[in-house]
Amino acid sequence: MVQGKKILIGVTGSISAYRVCDLIEALKAEGAEIQCILTQGGKRFMTPDTLRALTGKPAYSDMFQDHAFSGPLHTVLADEADLIAVIPSSCDFIAKLAAGICDDLLSATIIASKAPVLIAPAMNDNMFSHPMTQKNIQALEAIGYQFVAPEEGQLVCGRFSMGHIASQDKLKSSIETLLKK
Ligand SMILES: Cc1cc2nc3c(=O)[nH]c(=O)nc-3n(C[C@H](O)[C@H](O)[C@H](O)COP(=O)(O)O)c2cc1C
Repeated sequence: MVQGKKILIGVTGSISAYRVCDLIEALKAEGAEIQCILTQGGKRFMTPDTLRALTGKPAYSDMFQDHAFSGPLHTVLADEADLIAVIPSSCDFIAKLAAGICDDLLSATIIASKAPVLIAPAMNDNMFSHPMTQKNIQALEAIGYQFVAPEEGQLVCGRFSMGHIASQDKLKSSIETLLKK
């Protein structure tokens, strides 16, 4: 299903960032090529070295970073991707995308790409249910971005509530379904 597909995974500033590691391993085991981008927030929770070791490719976060230049990094990554998945997506990053802001590598790459976009929110329950967050999600769904709904679970704030990142099985099957479309 994912064999030979180029999947760009954006990792943002959520405590759930570590969960992307098992997903990357599972996708790679089935033959997917994974490239990662970390936001500045994402770098607080996941290291570029970990992602590089798992994917075999540098995990970028700086739009102006040195690379084998065949064009600006955000447009090269945008054109290469068969699918872009933001796993996990912070509340902040959803707001940024909904506003069309592209002042970092991940948001600029998404806006420069025609690839399908999958977003897996993970955040505090109040952040998730906040009217602005819900409005931002609706705005992004309206332009065709697909969301993998968070679940009820143990949150770092101490509550058992809505906002926990979706399970690995759900994330993987959502990627597979979107790639089939
Ligand atoms: C310990 C800790 C855990 C956090 N977890 C989350 C989270 O799960 N989801 C979220 O939206 N923000 C979370 N935040 C806040 C984000 O890291 C913050 O909004 C950041 O600016 C997001 O950056 P980014 O959108 O550039 O990735 C957390 C902050 C801290 C200090």
